[in-house]
Amino acid sequence: MTWWRDAVVYQVYPRSFQDSDGDGVGDIRGITRRLDEVAALGVDALWLSPMYPSPLADGGYDITDFTGVDPSLGTLDDLAELVAGTHRRGMRLLLDLVPNHTSIEHPWFRAHPDRYIWAGGAANNWKAAFGGSVWTRDERAGRWYLHSFFPEQPDLDWRNPEVPAAMRDVVRTWLGRGVDGFRLDALDSLGKHPDLLDDPPAAGPPPFPDTPDAAGLERRHSRNWMPTIRPVLAALREAAGDAFLVGEVYRPTDELGPYLESLTCAFVFELLFSPWEAEAVGGALDRAAGLDGAAWVLSNHDFGRVGARIGERNQRAAAMLLLTLPGTAFLYQGDEIGLLDGPGGDPPVDRYNRDRVRHPMQWDGGRQGGFTTGTPWLPAVDPAARNVADQRADPASLWSLHRDLIALRHELRGGLELVAAEPGGLLAYRRGDVLVALNLGGDELDLPAGEPLLRTHPGPRLGPGEGAMLRG
Ligand code: NOJ
Repeated sequence: MTWWRDAVVYQVYPRSFQDSDGDGVGDIRGITRRLDEVAALGVDALWLSPMYPSPLADGGYDITDFTGVDPSLGTLDDLAELVAGTHRRGMRLLLDLVPNHTSIEHPWFRAHPDRYIWAGGAANNWKAAFGGSVWTRDERAGRWYLHSFFPEQPDLDWRNPEVPAAMRDVVRTWLGRGVDGFRLDALDSLGKHPDLLDDPPAAGPPPFPDTPDAAGLERRHSRNWMPTIRPVLAALREAAGDAFLVGEVYRPTDELGPYLESLTCAFVFELLFSPWEAEAVGGALDRAAGLDGAAWVLSNHDFGRVGARIGERNQRAAAMLLLTLPGTAFLYQGDEIGLLDGPGGDPPVDRYNRDRVRHPMQWDGGRQGGFTTGTPWLPAVDPAARNVADQRADPASLWSLHRDLIALRHELRGGLELVAAEPGGLLAYRRGDVLVALNLGGDELDLPAGEPLLRTHPGPRLGPGEGAMLRG
């Protein structure tokens, strides 16, 4: 049951994928309708960002019922059809499990307040992920509760045995409904120092982007507290059996090891945040290549689109990078057609400025890109310029490059051996007898020797933003 070895997982953001009923919001039936297009890319699995009932304070990551489907997205029957349709096409379906917090509107918050973390006041200097203190006063309880994210997302207290028991049931329920695994949200937030000690001042910049107030602190006690996290992960693994579990751990690569004791794999955020520069990317690859469980990702629903971050010119080489690495590769919907960051919502929907990476999929060149017959909840960006239908018909398109890379990926063998990471721009590595050469610099480079298997661009040399897979 190791289907995930070197698999490609396609991330679906349900509200922005395909609307089936004209209300302007993507839904589960819409995803089922587009399964042939997803399967045509050759991916092995789909991961759905949360589709559970939610008041949408955080795009669905604030959940009121872990085993339901939000009525605006469909029903449990719709989800059963999606599971069946995915399996019929030889793909798997993963859900997003959010073990760190619930919505403040989850019935537990009033009925079982002891499943959350409380104090008599703002107990320490910890900062929430989206800014401000982690402590908010609940007027009804007259006490302060802890939230690592928005105040509408109170953190669960995993030291209360009712929490692991309830979450195990959630995992088993979904596996019983045919789901193949989970992406686990915000795992490093799960463990806090039991004495709620202050975070010390930071000695340097944070490893990854953080809010200005949190960047001044080292998140030593508010996050990543392994004595608490280890048993949580063990409980989730026990419930999941041998199902696929990929962890979102917002920590550097050298801290992922203990998480991987229970997970199948963990996202390598060092690669996502690496500057597009051969030495930096090579370093990120080298540090993670030894992990048994690297999950590679270049964009998702939280951070900038690939092309927006590293430049449109580099999109094809970035696709070659992502899809030739050993391990599990995660491709965010829209990256296969080169969607860029959009203008976002007006007024904004997300309070943390992430609308720009959540614009609807563009299936065709129509005004709404085939996403909806109604008014989309976020506007289409540029469907006439970029859409799946046009790019599927064009063998030289970015979509076709993704399909070809995925097809070739399944022939790649062995681990990653870094061959070159030169300040001038050449990044090269081997997978068995295949050499992958990418130009991350600004000058033309010589094409390394070997029989070309796949090129991002034709031509006698390797220009900026170009890549080649060569045998020999
Ligand atoms: C990470 C998710 O990817 C993000 O969208 C969400 O806001 C936080 N976790 C909190 O659940």
